[in-house]
Amino acid sequence: MDHHRVRVAAVAVVLAVWLQLPAASRGQLQVGFYNTSCPNAETLVRQAVTNAFNNDSGVAAGLIRLHFHDCFVRGCDASVLLTSANGTAERDAAPNNPSLRGFQVIDAAKAAVEQSCPRTVSCADIVAFAARDSINLTGSVSYQVPSGRRDGNTSINQDALNNLPQPTFTAAQLVASFANKSLTAEEMVILSGAHTVGRSFCSSFLTRIWNNTTPIVRTPATTSPLTISRRLTLSLTGISTEY
Ligand code: HEM
Ligand SMILES: *[C@@H]1O[C@H](CO)[C@@H](O)[C@H](O)[C@H]1NC(C)=O
Ligand SMILES: *[C@@H]1O[C@H](CO)[C@@H](O)[C@H](O)[C@H]1NC(C)=O
Ligand SMILES: *[C@@H]1O[C@H](CO)[C@@H](O)[C@H](O)[C@H]1NC(C)=O
Ligand SMILES: *[C@@H]1O[C@H](CO)[C@@H](O)[C@H](O)[C@H]1NC(C)=O
Ligand SMILES: *[C@@H]1O[C@H](CO)[C@@H](O)[C@H](O)[C@H]1NC(C)=O
Ligand SMILES: *[C@@H]1O[C@H](CO)[C@@H](O)[C@H](O)[C@H]1NC(C)=O
Ligand SMILES: *[C@@H]1O[C@H](CO)[C@@H](O)[C@H](O)[C@H]1NC(C)=O
Repeated sequence: MDHHRVRVAAVAVVLAVWLQLPAASRGQLQVGFYNTSCPNAETLVRQAVTNAFNNDSGVAAGLIRLHFHDCFVRGCDASVLLTSANGTAERDAAPNNPSLRGFQVIDAAKAAVEQSCPRTVSCADIVAFAARDSINLTGSVSYQVPSGRRDGNTSINQDALNNLPQPTFTAAQLVASFANKSLTAEEMVILSGAHTVGRSFCSSFLTRIWNNTTPIVRTPATTSPLTISRRLTLSLTGISTEY
């Protein structure tokens, strides 16, 4: 097993035992909740995720993050999917807009599931299944997802700002943020391994590397990520960070 695989597997295990439990109905979820009411639910979600992944593998990272951002705000209730007429829903908040992606994959999965078994499978379960399928497609590890979540009907942008950890957080703030969801520091570190896949806007991490006056990270000039990041800084701000 290489390091990448170990990290993805560890994220899967922690997600499996914790992240998918909703705040309101912890303990009531069951693997195979839709066995009789919608036996092909998980297969249909898997197909929708696979179709999207084959077109753009980046959606896998988007869907993993979507599950996290759903669960950290009001529990795993699909509140992250709700739209508002006046731009005041979770998905409009800065941590989600414009970076959160994969919504259209959930929509496609939901449409397929609704056609097969109307008004039976919750969006919250679909988000949880889709994250599992994304981890499977990127890491070739698998875990079972207990299901039976109920969808919420409330989505408030301020809740996202209050509950999602910020990229500027110190280690102590990150530990506290996860402790508030009954997750340990070790689980926080393991779950952060989800960042093995995905993309980020430069603005989310650039100040960790360079802060206008001082190079914070010194590596050989040949290190390509830093070189890339310098070029991005130059292109975004017009400021050269060569040193
Ligand atoms: C520990 C606290 C965390 C912080 C501060 C954090 C912060 C961030 C930030 C700033 C980005 C980039 C957003 C952008 O600029 O586009 C990101 C991306 C991402 N995060 Fe996290 N994150 C955290 C935990 C997690 C967890 C627990 C998961 C899932 C288990 C996760 C999954 C992801 C994924 C997959 C991406 C890439 C998304 C994409 O490519 O669309 N993150 N995160
Ligand atoms: C659904 O079927 C699977 C496979 O037979 C089984 O492991 C699981 O316990 C079943 N779940 C329910 C709630 O019936
Ligand atoms: C395929 O991926 C591209 C790039 O992410 C996206 O713009 C497009 O909508 C996707 N097409 C389908 C059919 O999902
Ligand atoms: C936005 O719309 C929601 C739902 O209609 C409403 O409860 C809320 O007060 C509105 N917020 C603002 C700032 O207009
Ligand atoms: C996950 O990936 C493995 C290896 O590619 C595959 O054998 C397995 O069937 C997948 N599991 C699920 C639930 O799709
Ligand atoms: C939202 O859900 C709660 C709990 O099921 C319910 O009491 C309330 O009437 C719902 N509100 C709306 C606007 O549908
Ligand atoms: C998380 O924070 C909220 C709001 O501050 C608080 O009501 C709740 O008790 C905290 N939960 C835990 C497990 O610390
Ligand atoms: C930039 O980082 C250096 C080294 O950590 C620190 O001494 C300096 O105060 C920082 N400057 C700003 C503007 O944050």
